[in-house]
Amino acid sequence: MVKLTPPMGWNSWNTFGADINEALIFETADKMAESGLLACGYDYLVIDDCWSLKERDEQDRLVPDPVKFPHGMKAVADYVHAKGLKFGMYSCAGNLTCAGYPGSFEHEFIDAATFAEWGVDFLKYDYCYHSNIIPGEYLYRRMGLALENCGRDILFSACSWGIDETHTWIKTSSASMWRSTGDIVDTWESVKSLAAQQKALHPYNGVGCFNDMDMLIVGMHGKGNVGFQGCSDIQYRTHFSLWAFLSSPLMIGCDIRDMSPETLSTLTNRDIIAINQDPGCRQPYPLQGIWRDDNLIAYAKNLTGGDIAIGFFNLSADKATARLNLDELGLPHSTHKTLSMKEIWTQKDALIRNAHVAWELEPYDCAVFRAKVVDLA
Ligand code: GLA
Repeated sequence: MVKLTPPMGWNSWNTFGADINEALIFETADKMAESGLLACGYDYLVIDDCWSLKERDEQDRLVPDPVKFPHGMKAVADYVHAKGLKFGMYSCAGNLTCAGYPGSFEHEFIDAATFAEWGVDFLKYDYCYHSNIIPGEYLYRRMGLALENCGRDILFSACSWGIDETHTWIKTSSASMWRSTGDIVDTWESVKSLAAQQKALHPYNGVGCFNDMDMLIVGMHGKGNVGFQGCSDIQYRTHFSLWAFLSSPLMIGCDIRDMSPETLSTLTNRDIIAINQDPGCRQPYPLQGIWRDDNLIAYAKNLTGGDIAIGFFNLSADKATARLNLDELGLPHSTHKTLSMKEIWTQKDALIRNAHVAWELEPYDCAVFRAKVVDLA
């Protein structure tokens, strides 16, 4: 299937790891619908690794763990669908999944048929224990074909962490998103490192196949499977803004049954989500400016209809001033145009003087603008 804007939803891995079950999924589905997350576009609920038994059945089919999922996966899918959500599951291109459960290697078509029968709408496909002889591109094409031929629209989410030159071949499979980097953990260093690694990969992002910077850590505060030391609410807001700005899928990873008001308000900022979901999916471009160091990054992205999204991200523990020259955006003085710039989180306007903007940022904070092209007064 083709997905035209970055997928959004929730995934069990970051917080729950192997500790998943039917009750958790039902409660999470309830909360996605009740909290307003679904209304903001988070419509895929995805169960990650550790959902099956360690052995296939006599027909070689995957078997949901009957202790975790006593009514089977069709019942889970039905519940999720009844809430207006779509249902996602997980498998792997290797013999085993990363956590050691059966993978789909040499079972691609039978597994795709099983997922279709259960009512699955999304498959995350990992890369652990894969063959050293068969290239990754063959393995992802295989499962892509199996899904395209299974009789159901199933979004294919590739997860080979950007290795084996994934960017050069992933679009030859039917993947709608591909993990462009390694696993996130709930630390500020992890956010910074993933953002930096993404820099060279922007040209590969675009409509129909999105660079997946990994699930969000917003609101985890150090709890759960990839918990570690956690981040502050400001850091989570900057992380969320950066992922949204760079057109990554937005897959929530915290326990949404127990979200703080700050977490919910970060995740449901509709103006930030609108930049992520802009139908043009234009490539973000780094602004050159004169930057202090790599900890202050700035991007712009042209939006459908003529607006420009502009983001300043202060990744450092110190205050910083971001600067922008309108020349870089294609608006030199000779055009007799300028920008009207409102910052989304604070609703403050930026002052533009001599085609130049300077914006103060607190430690770890960001500023994201939706700028409109207007006549020079
Ligand atoms: C890999 C993936 C993670 C998660 C785990 C599950 O590490 O990159 O996102 O799916 O496997 O075991």
